[in-house]
Amino acid sequence: MNPTIELIHRRKSIRDYEDRPVPDSVRDEILRAALRSPTAGNMMLYSIIHVSDPAAKATLARTCDNQPFIARAPLVLLFLADYQRWYDYFRLSGAEELSARRGRPMQTPEEGDLLLACCDALIAAQTAVLAAESLGLGSCYIGDILENCEEHRRLFSLPRYAFPVSLLCFGYPTQEQRQRPLTSRFDRDYIVFENRYRSLQPHEFQMMFHQALQEMDASGARNPGLRMYQRKFTAEFSREMRRSVKRMLESWAPD
Ligand SMILES: Cc1cc2nc3c(=O)[nH]c(=O)nc-3n(C[C@H](O)[C@H](O)[C@H](O)COP(=O)(O)O)c2cc1C
Repeated sequence: MNPTIELIHRRKSIRDYEDRPVPDSVRDEILRAALRSPTAGNMMLYSIIHVSDPAAKATLARTCDNQPFIARAPLVLLFLADYQRWYDYFRLSGAEELSARRGRPMQTPEEGDLLLACCDALIAAQTAVLAAESLGLGSCYIGDILENCEEHRRLFSLPRYAFPVSLLCFGYPTQEQRQRPLTSRFDRDYIVFENRYRSLQPHEFQMMFHQALQEMDASGARNPGLRMYQRKFTAEFSREMRRSVKRMLESWAPD
């Protein structure tokens, strides 16, 4: 295995950090790498907020489904899908006047633009994860940043077309975390298809969960589908995520 492949294979989420700061030079190296990520149309449709304020981290630890380790992470980066910057620049460049001359309203960013910007933001986030890993730092994504949009908008002064799509915590892993085994993944047969999509047959689901079943306790192993349906898909945090994202999407619908 070459060192890049080896790094990708050994990476795991780290939620417990040594009590030492991440030097600015290391943070800057991570950011420099993230900013080299591929980006749609070379437009960099994202922004990154370095959350250094301990009070803001403490708020995130609460608003992101009560995950206290967020407040303890020495480095926290918020990735925004961001069309606001380009929208402002289009207006500054005379896009409203141009549209008026052509007898139509100026185009505003819509849901499709948001998805493209999310692609940009998430690609940059994953580049940051791998760069951090190569520098000895562990990381953990926080999907719960999609919840409580009203509070997050206020906390970070987010304008209409800035969408907080991913939060990343970084820090030096504790010895215990370093030794923790990797989590398993589903076999590629169920994930990678050739040329066309293939729905899985009932017997394939059984094989797909073979490895996962060994990692679950007895109650989960009895019915992993129902367990995930209850614990994740219909859990309170999922309901809040759906509510919050619906609210955020309202901003991207044309007026
Ligand atoms: C989009 C996304 C959201 C996630 N949200 C959280 C989270 O809110 N809290 C958490 O502890 N881990 C979170 N994770 C980490 C996953 O739980 C983790 O990647 C998964 O269990 C596989 O483990 P591994 O990363 O150690 O291989 C998230 C990961 C992704 C990609």
